[in-house]
Amino acid sequence: MRIGVLTGGGDCPGLNAAIRAVVRKSIDYEFDVLGIQNGWLGLLENQLYPMNLSSVSGILPLGGTILSTSRTNPAKVPGGFEKIAAVIKEREIDAIVAIGGDDTLSVALELNKRNIIPAVGAPKTMDNDVALTDYCIGFDSAVSTVTEALDKLHTTAHAHHRVMVVEVMGRDTGWVALYGGLAGGADWIMIPEVPSTIQESCQHLIKRRERGKDFSIIVVAEGVVLPDIPVEDAKDMDSFGHVRLDKRNVGHLIGLHIERITGFETRVTVLGHLQRGGPPTVFDRILATRLGVEAVKLIKYKRYGEMAAFRNNEISAVKLEDALKNSPKKVPIELYQMAHLFY
Ligand code: F6P
Repeated sequence: MRIGVLTGGGDCPGLNAAIRAVVRKSIDYEFDVLGIQNGWLGLLENQLYPMNLSSVSGILPLGGTILSTSRTNPAKVPGGFEKIAAVIKEREIDAIVAIGGDDTLSVALELNKRNIIPAVGAPKTMDNDVALTDYCIGFDSAVSTVTEALDKLHTTAHAHHRVMVVEVMGRDTGWVALYGGLAGGADWIMIPEVPSTIQESCQHLIKRRERGKDFSIIVVAEGVVLPDIPVEDAKDMDSFGHVRLDKRNVGHLIGLHIERITGFETRVTVLGHLQRGGPPTVFDRILATRLGVEAVKLIKYKRYGEMAAFRNNEISAVKLEDALKNSPKKVPIELYQMAHLFY
């Protein structure tokens, strides 16, 4: 058995832990492993190299991905699937482990459906919105970064009696904003799942001042929907049809309006790609290790078209098709409402 492993989509901490686990479990099963570089691009362009124990030595605590990544969608490349089929034949690969979010995993599903190559998945995205898994690789590390940032922003907000708007990642869902905001003691959280107006936010900030709270921290997911102010989306899209959300400048827009409406001095911090860097947390190391091992087991037992998942504190597997049908996984509204208790 010769398997290929790739990481696709945005990077995040924990990818290397997952790659290491895939390679170690493959060696345990006496499978050969080829590392596919740059996500699906590497499979299109035959960028593969044999991996062994020494290829993954020392990578467990490293952020990023030693395989590199891309947002390449073979469906958008002319003759993309034929090219992939040719590379697979030439390199004699029997199955693929795709470590990625819903875009990357949708290509893995397509390869199964087209009978090009059996593929299995492992869910990673700091957005945490792949369905049928409670957690995705990278989320816990991203939330830890947000929490640390909020702890630091608290002291300066307090010292200057300011409003601090903190923009975090989260394209369609507010997992990072909600968990980060809860852990970091945010005074208002805005997420894509629940449209909330600037007016509403301002009224809340004014009430806080009346209560004697002369500083506030607002956490905003980059994909938030604002019914009362126009937000301009970027025109250019990636090959999966996503616009660049950092170009919406939603945090700055919110900060500007808050300052104008309330008169409270306001500053904006965009955490951006800091959330995707650095060493993975303990949770992500263990999660990535377990999911990587499980993905190889799925291949061993020919459970193609499945994704390793973490549900109810256990590692299990679900059909890629079911996971993708139910993605993006939205935050539970009860948890969002619970956060209001602490505003
Ligand atoms: O896909 C995860 C994500 O972190 C989103 O939250 C964010 O919008 C996007 O990646 C940004 O990715 P990049 O800057 O790498 O294109």
